Amino acid sequence: MQRRIPLTSLACLTLLSLAACGGGDADPAAYPESEITFVVPFAAGGPTDTVTRLIAEPMSKELGQQIVVQNVEGAGGTVAAGQVAGEDGDGYQVLIHHIGMSTAPSLYPDLDYSPLEDFKTVGLVTDVPMTIVARADFEPETLEELVAYVEENADTVTLANAGTGAASQLCGLLIEEAIGVDLTEVPYDGTGPALTDLVGGQVDFMCDQTTNTAAQIQSGDIKGYAVTTPERVEALPDLPTTAEAGLPDVEVGVWHGLYVPSETSDEVVEKLTAALKVALADQNVIDSFADLGTAPVAEDQVTPEAQTAKLEEQIDLWTPIIEASGVTGG
Ligand code: MLT
Repeated sequence: MQRRIPLTSLACLTLLSLAACGGGDADPAAYPESEITFVVPFAAGGPTDTVTRLIAEPMSKELGQQIVVQNVEGAGGTVAAGQVAGEDGDGYQVLIHHIGMSTAPSLYPDLDYSPLEDFKTVGLVTDVPMTIVARADFEPETLEELVAYVEENADTVTLANAGTGAASQLCGLLIEEAIGVDLTEVPYDGTGPALTDLVGGQVDFMCDQTTNTAAQIQSGDIKGYAVTTPERVEALPDLPTTAEAGLPDVEVGVWHGLYVPSETSDEVVEKLTAALKVALADQNVIDSFADLGTAPVAEDQVTPEAQTAKLEEQIDLWTPIIEASGVTGG
């Protein structure tokens, strides 16, 4: 995937002017004065990318500046987070990340950033249900059959994910732990490309967010076994929950939020939060999210405080589970 160099960066190089780059001297009161880059830590065409593009349009309208989406794949989202952590805190580089922000510190002992110390939070976006899905011609028809099949064929079954630190990897880990198997994992730069291979029959099954799988389950291009949330999902009413189908320990929601480097001024964060609120109240965003099996978070969750609380709570939740599993990303 070719990375796009934001026009602002080119302007920085040619004009050699910090103000033109929205750099350290930029006036927060005037923000935003130029294009903003939203950094997506996974491949284009996948669930995080989809959510980002849906909110970017109304946020761009509200902020009065273009928003460019940049996909920075690698190491389960940690490459992108490390990139944004090292940027100027001028509000022109915004990271969107999900539950992986809370699992990275325990998965990557040498992580070069701290999710809590190197970022300011902007607000939560959505909490997306996951689905357990398989290639259309995979033998098991139900989650119960999948469990039995995987137990019997653990040495040949392949499990796709978006790398260590991805939500798909975390959900897959919970499935392996619940069944008591260690499967061959096939990592991708995102579940966008993983889903393409699943549809093509190159891998057997995976976990993925409804924002990536709802349409393919509905069309029959892939097989859906269950949703990983306590409640069924309106867009996929026939799919049982994992608890209903016998895997109650496989429960995970993929919460997303926006982050900026920690030295970003509160004034800039407030403007981004306000624009995010407007975007999440946009009827087109609400309808598109619903078609994809999700919804914007409640308005009182679109705040830095709510997102920081969520991040802290999720770090506390996942750290002992990941440490007990012995899984590391390097
Ligand atoms: C994940 O598994 O973390 C996501 O599905 C990544 C993505 O957006 O591709």
